[in-house]
Amino acid sequence: MLVLGIESSCDDTAVALVEDGRVIRASAAGGQEALHAAYGGIVPEVACRAHYEVMMPLVEKVLKQAGVSADAVDAVAVTNRPGLVGSLYVGLSAAKGLSWALKKPLVPVDHIEAHIYAVHFNEQEVHYPYVSVVVSGGHTDIFFTQGATEHTLITRTLDDAAGECFDKVSALLGLGFPGGPAIQNAALGGNPAAIDFPRGSSGPDGTQISFSGLKTAVLNELLHRGFVLEAQRNSGRKMPHVRPPRPRRRDATLTFGVKMPLADIAASFQEAAVDILIRATVAASRRAQCRNIVLCGGVAANKRLRESMQKACDGRHLRFHPAPIALCTDNAAMVAGIGFHALLEGKRATLDVDVLPNKDEKRARREGA
Ligand code: KG4
Ligand code: ZN
Repeated sequence: MLVLGIESSCDDTAVALVEDGRVIRASAAGGQEALHAAYGGIVPEVACRAHYEVMMPLVEKVLKQAGVSADAVDAVAVTNRPGLVGSLYVGLSAAKGLSWALKKPLVPVDHIEAHIYAVHFNEQEVHYPYVSVVVSGGHTDIFFTQGATEHTLITRTLDDAAGECFDKVSALLGLGFPGGPAIQNAALGGNPAAIDFPRGSSGPDGTQISFSGLKTAVLNELLHRGFVLEAQRNSGRKMPHVRPPRPRRRDATLTFGVKMPLADIAASFQEAAVDILIRATVAASRRAQCRNIVLCGGVAANKRLRESMQKACDGRHLRFHPAPIALCTDNAAMVAGIGFHALLEGKRATLDVDVLPNKDEKRARREGA
């Protein structure tokens, strides 16, 4: 069965054609990084318009790449939750139009479930149940997963998502957007033990996750070193959310202004973020009594996280399954893949289906609130 997947929940427009939830026949994407870089983060209105421009050309491109006509498509799967409202509407509208014109089922998909499904494109088959660690720009959630669409939340971040923290710290360091890859590069050759950034409290059972303390600690460290203004100068723009350091006496630089290579600061931050995630993952595995660990979402592309998580799992006899690097950040293959299984479960929608931008709204609806 050929499922056409459409993804537009945030700032990536992506379309893919996947056979039986397993074989990627064709895939194409249009990132918007350059458009948002000037603002230091994603601007919803800009994202929405950019999706609108490239969506249908991407559909055409994917069909051409796969060498099939639109009639060959058996179902259209699309992310309709959670995400930016305008961005979601572009994908859902395109999917509705295609489903109606082709007379094929429309399958709405949850973006987080799609991220988790990405692991099933690994060559080695991953069996249920497993603990899913979803680390992206908008989410840091750990689930106990018993099937393609069966996830029970174990824990989630109390504040910022992991990717959001990478993005904000990258802005502080003047490294630009998106922050994850920028920090990973800046950290190369740096000493991860140079600064002992706080890992926050792990809570009574070790599963508590929080990134806001780490972000503030980096800011304080930079202010202390008189680094922030320099970073702002380097990036060539003002960052209004960063308070400039208080003016110091001339000789204060000698007392407080300890210079440190950017690589050491980036590596130390990355190490702390990785430690927070590993600690929560190990605790979640213990709580769920499950030894299979799946890592997915944009931050799962981080090499240090993958290596350290592998080591942590090996040392505890846990089986570690990271999603393929190319399918960690937003893509449409994962949407088509989960869409195939959702369709088998009868989860097709009518043409009045709407977007659900907010994850809490989704939870509230599930709970019948
Ligand atoms: O999953 P994703 O593409 O979009 C969301 O659903 O949010 O994740 C994007 C996030 C961004 O915050 C980006 O900085 C982060 O993933 N990211 C990384 C890396 N590549 C992307 N974070 C750390 N290291 C990376 N190599
Ligand atoms: Zn995502």
